[in-house]
Amino acid sequence: MKTTRLYLFLTIFSTIALLVDTDESVTAAVVIGIGATLGWTMYKYSHESCDSSWIYFNATALEADLESKLFGQHIASSIILKAVNGFMKNENPQKPLVLSLHGSTGTGKNFVSKLIAENIYKEGMDSRFVHVFTSTLHFPHPSQYLTYKSQLQQWIKGNVSNCERSMFIFDEMDKMHPDLIDSIRPYLEYYDKLDGVSYRKAIFIFLSNSGGENITRTALNFWKDGRKREEIELKDLETMLTLIVFNDNQGGFFRASLIDKNLVDFFVPFLPLEFSHVVQCALAEMRARRRKPDMDVADKVAKDLVYFPETERVFSVKGCKTIVSKLDYYT
Ligand SMILES: Nc1ncnc2c1ncn2[C@@H]1O[C@H](COP(=O)(O)OP(=O)(O)OP(=O)(O)O)[C@@H](O)[C@H]1O
Ligand SMILES: [Mg+2]
Repeated sequence: MKTTRLYLFLTIFSTIALLVDTDESVTAAVVIGIGATLGWTMYKYSHESCDSSWIYFNATALEADLESKLFGQHIASSIILKAVNGFMKNENPQKPLVLSLHGSTGTGKNFVSKLIAENIYKEGMDSRFVHVFTSTLHFPHPSQYLTYKSQLQQWIKGNVSNCERSMFIFDEMDKMHPDLIDSIRPYLEYYDKLDGVSYRKAIFIFLSNSGGENITRTALNFWKDGRKREEIELKDLETMLTLIVFNDNQGGFFRASLIDKNLVDFFVPFLPLEFSHVVQCALAEMRARRRKPDMDVADKVAKDLVYFPETERVFSVKGCKTIVSKLDYYT
């Protein structure tokens, strides 16, 4: 937006400057015409719109990102790639894509949502077609859920009317009021159109910690049995995950008819991260800061975190979450 204003300002300014220098009115009109055309072209190119110049899915880049940037999540990586690929390549999807990402803290749920957004929208998470709701921030008072409900519905409708390829990320889904979750159900259904609006090309991503403990328990059992982490398959977790989420009395998924009606297309488990993944996160953060990756520092940072079980120290309690601040401390 700021760039747009700057372009416009410069165009108008140069036009006026030329005008002042020009005596003949015909030349002035031509100059104004050129200025206006230039200004409009620049505006169009710098102002995000809901078309293929701003929204295009790059499957190869998503695959490369998942492969090189997301650590230790072989199941999530493969489900997400297939799900997003299949959906984006389908010209006529029957319903919006609904992904529900589960796992303990700092395992990459927000991070993966960002990777998806970056490979669909030129502006990534800054796109005006990508919307993030955080339960505790946007819907803090359970008693006001009726107000939230109508606001949320109008908001989804307004945004999808504006751009059918909209993406909605609901963070802390487990802390959301069940009735509020229910209120988004109509948009996730197999309707052709709802009040004249089609939601079939939208993407909904739900993030939550529910099921995290059970995913961790499964990972720990594999480790105790001496089996490789990569041997864990979706089928080892999927049924359990659906049941846990559905029966979670604490969390907002409880009774939510999203699950009852099979509106969630994919439940995506995020495994707890190990020491080696934390080292990779630290090295990645150094690269992101344009510093030479330093293995010694990465090792120190990783050793500083808390792991469980206490004696074996296998999984990082907070995943890669505190890497940024730890790195500030060591560098
Ligand atoms: N699996 C991963 N691979 C690479 N980086 C990761 C991974 N998990 C976490 N990170 C890093 O740690 C940061 C925090 O992770 P993220 O916010 O995605 O966690 P989360 O799963 O959403 O946790 P929470 O449940 O607490 O919200 C990310 O921005 C990213 O830099
Ligand atoms: Mg998160």
